[in-house]
Amino acid sequence: MGEEKKKKRHSKLKKFLIMMVVVGILFGCYIRFIGILGIVVKEYAIHTDKLPSSFDGMKIVHFSDIHYGTIVDSKKLEEMVKMINDLRPDIVVFTGDLYDESIELSDKYKEEIKDNLSKIEALLGKYAVSGNHDYSNEGYSKLIKESGFTYLDSESELLYYNGDTPIRIEGYPSYLKDKPDYKSYEEDYYTISLIHEPDGIDKLKSNSDLVLAGHSHGGQVRLPFIGAIYTPVGSKKYYDEYYKVNDTDLYISYGIGTSLLKIRYFNHPSFNLYRFFVD
Ligand SMILES: [Fe+2]
Repeated sequence: MGEEKKKKRHSKLKKFLIMMVVVGILFGCYIRFIGILGIVVKEYAIHTDKLPSSFDGMKIVHFSDIHYGTIVDSKKLEEMVKMINDLRPDIVVFTGDLYDESIELSDKYKEEIKDNLSKIEALLGKYAVSGNHDYSNEGYSKLIKESGFTYLDSESELLYYNGDTPIRIEGYPSYLKDKPDYKSYEEDYYTISLIHEPDGIDKLKSNSDLVLAGHSHGGQVRLPFIGAIYTPVGSKKYYDEYYKVNDTDLYISYGIGTSLLKIRYFNHPSFNLYRFFVD
């Protein structure tokens, strides 16, 4: 091979490598600074004949995985709260990971959280369960209660809406960090279950109609046509936004914050809105 040809080949290889490095840097900047921006509302219609007719038109907002102090600060929470209130939900639920284990929560942080979350308005109530990160700092259940949420610690409540037949809402703490006491019930009311780790759906005993979970973050980084490339323990079986598990609908919120790395791709921060239609 002539010297000239060798030089040409080297120069082409060099250009290719430089291009790859530039693309890598641009991708890194995108997932760190652009992919985490904004809040998307994911809207789902739930048609069911099991819900009492008085609940026709009900709206539930479901948010999850705040991981306060990572990419979520007071401003971001304020934005989320405004968006939720603009939707005028009947029920608001939170499926855990308000805290992040890498962040030490100061009293100032806790005040900011309380100030914002207590402004969320819901006609029939606000309900929350714990996530695995909520055991990393003290006072999660106290803070969530002071923010106006009912903390469901293997507990349930019946909700009435202009009628005699209620629905049931139940909630369980993180099974990775706690010991949920899964309940079964005699009365067969339409049942909504709140859990943190979606794989916990297989542990439920309540014959639930609708299970709402978080934890997976949808993988945080999702690739086109492939989806999540990594999900944590507790969301290895169920990690995408929707599954039908026997007769139960399972919806997973991809969350507002991040854990491990402050990056998101094809997966902007989001919360879910469910509109119910009685068939
Ligand atoms: Fe999380």
